[in-house]
Amino acid sequence: MLQHERAAGALLPEYHRATPECPQPQQWSMIDSMTAEVEVLEFIATLVTTIKPRLVVETGSFLGVSTEWIARGLERNGFGKVVSCEFDTVVYERAKARLEASPLKQWMELRNESSLEMQVEGTIDLLFSDSDIQIREAEVKRFLPQMNPNGVILMHDASSHLQVVRAAALKMEDEGLISVVLLPTPRGLVVAQPKAGRA
Ligand SMILES: C[S@@+](CC[C@H](N)C(=O)[O-])C[C@H]1O[C@@H](n2cnc3c(N)ncnc32)[C@H](O)[C@@H]1O
Repeated sequence: MLQHERAAGALLPEYHRATPECPQPQQWSMIDSMTAEVEVLEFIATLVTTIKPRLVVETGSFLGVSTEWIARGLERNGFGKVVSCEFDTVVYERAKARLEASPLKQWMELRNESSLEMQVEGTIDLLFSDSDIQIREAEVKRFLPQMNPNGVILMHDASSHLQVVRAAALKMEDEGLISVVLLPTPRGLVVAQPKAGRA
């Protein structure tokens, strides 16, 4: 949070170390090391305008920067909402204050809950999994039955260096649950879709 405050919105070069799939991470930008890379935020907003989700679920709000980028896409679409959860109460209060003051407020619902307990009503068109690395498999499996079969699942932090999320995504692919594309971004981004029920 301190890094976020000090940066005051200024962009820094991405911090993540080089990986075989992304040898020049400094070509990407970040606001802080918790918030997704700026290019990934832009990608998610574009994905929102591209697939026009009615319901987006985000796990791991942190300060709500990615939530706002999702909301930017929803505002452009003119419909939909993003439900985002942050289980750390101190971080949640900071995010809530930020998002309450945002002109995009109407598109966002922030919850002080764990992704492993949060109940969301309805069909999820876009799931952005960005909480604790160790629980990503569990949370994707938890929300999978609620996914629109033609919807999209994004799993952040899936680089070959961080390993855990990448391995979880590939394991779920082996289990026949999702189809996976590994985008070679600095921290790694899985773009996936449920295997069952696609049109
Ligand atoms: C990488 S940050 C999220 C960054 C944010 N999505 C962005 O790009 O602006 C991960 C956040 O997930 C939160 N978190 C960890 N485990 C969680 C859980 N089980 N449920 C909800 N939030 C969780 C952490 O407290 C942290 O703030």
